[in-house]
Amino acid sequence: MPSGGIVILDYGSQFTQLIARRIRARDVFSQILACTATREDVLEFEPRGIILSGGPSSVREEGAPRLPFDIWSLGLPVLGICYGMQLIALEAGFEVVEAGEAEYGYASITTRSGEGLFRDTPTEQQVWMSHGDKVSADEKNLEVLAMSDNSEVAAFAVPDRNAYCVQFHPEVHHTTHGAQILRNFLFDICGCEPNWSAGDIIDQMVAEIRKTVGQGRVICGVSGGVDSAVAACLIDRAIGDRLFCVFVDNGLLRAGEAENVVELLGEHLTAPLEFVDAGDRFLDRLAGITEPEEKRRRIGNLFIEIFEEVGDKNGPFEFLGQGTLYPDRIESSSTGGPSDTIKTHHNVGGLPEDMKFGLVEPLGLLFKDEVREIGYALGLPDRQLKRHPFPGPGLGVRILGEVTRERLDLLRQADKIFIDGLHQWNLYDDVWQALVVLLPVRSVGVMGDARTYGHPVVLRAVTSTDGMTADWVDLPGDFLKEISNRIINAVPGINRVAYDISSKPPSTIEWE
Ligand code: XMP
Repeated sequence: MPSGGIVILDYGSQFTQLIARRIRARDVFSQILACTATREDVLEFEPRGIILSGGPSSVREEGAPRLPFDIWSLGLPVLGICYGMQLIALEAGFEVVEAGEAEYGYASITTRSGEGLFRDTPTEQQVWMSHGDKVSADEKNLEVLAMSDNSEVAAFAVPDRNAYCVQFHPEVHHTTHGAQILRNFLFDICGCEPNWSAGDIIDQMVAEIRKTVGQGRVICGVSGGVDSAVAACLIDRAIGDRLFCVFVDNGLLRAGEAENVVELLGEHLTAPLEFVDAGDRFLDRLAGITEPEEKRRRIGNLFIEIFEEVGDKNGPFEFLGQGTLYPDRIESSSTGGPSDTIKTHHNVGGLPEDMKFGLVEPLGLLFKDEVREIGYALGLPDRQLKRHPFPGPGLGVRILGEVTRERLDLLRQADKIFIDGLHQWNLYDDVWQALVVLLPVRSVGVMGDARTYGHPVVLRAVTSTDGMTADWVDLPGDFLKEISNRIINAVPGINRVAYDISSKPPSTIEWE
């Protein structure tokens, strides 16, 4: 059992896994436990510190979750984030009141000292807030560490309890110095050692896969993307020839994608890899469908039907292996936290209820960049691991409105020009994900002397570390000009190119 890390008590925040992920990024072990964990549950991990996550409740509500036991008796440093902060305040006897106006989004804070939790961070810094309650600023017994720009307590310490509290979320990217704040907590305050590596995580995952699968067999879909490749290689390492891989060409792939997969993965798997050409079946299933969630469900269901067919032929298989990541799950779930169903990611919410397989999802608690690290540790090549993410439902969710062969063809051509252009201009690796969206409207243009009435496409390029939040990339104007010209000149039917300048939130990366 790993020790010397951090136990995170989860109060239901959408960002709890992100806290764990930030800690792993510092090579420190972390374990998330429910906010009802017992003293023994916590001690099992021999932690050096405790973090109380944020959560959707208000500590002022009746029945809102409390501290599970007398955590102070452990004698460990505690960091309370958002809800966790209010909980510590309440338990310490401070007053928690409703913030006149809930505070969401960017805020600026001013720290009182550049030491302790805020060591090596500037006096003025940008943070990300998301809260409806606040700790009353009148309190005498707390040591205020930072104030927000509207003069509220943004961070405080309770020295006799070795507790630190922040109203904002240090774990999200928008908190500019959040990584340093967490680092200060881990190393300066808790005295953690950076001794948890990708190799340890692989060993742990391989052991878990063996435990889940027992003597069973696994059928695993590979898409050519980083996630399913890494998941397949992990399962391959865990159970070898009891794994059977399937690549389904759903007809919704980028140009040249199918050939790529077979070449790249073939050499890294000991398990067999079967290729299924199912483009026509997917198009039939999508005929006439325009509603995004319905598209996702249909694509997801057909994937499973095909796996079941392949399974019947080559099986029996008891398990389906998938490269589902944590962000896929959190955005597909509407229970157990504050998260609404944003999109049904096909390898999560699109699974039919009567599915015959058990699930093996070795990456289910990880984020994209961690999966890349694991991919490197498994020896997968750079050109595979540096590929931009590509959604399971493929171009199906980048064609707004009905998916038809003609519209797929238009989008594929425009997409190829954009992606090839990013490589040619050496911009591909500066962008986390780039894509083209085909809109379901037409616009008027003029080409030569003739009127055109064609389709607009939207180029989108974002930076992100985990897909949970993203910013649009300010690509060079000359590059965009060249791509726009090339697309309009080379793809008959497209007469307008727009560039998407929305960040996530409030938008999402894909348009559907
Ligand atoms: P959104 O659009 O939700 O996308 O901001 C976040 C990241 O997830 C990818 N994505 C998916 N990946 N199955 C997947 O495997 C899906 O159904 C799916 N939908 C979105 C998206 O491309 C982006 O990288």
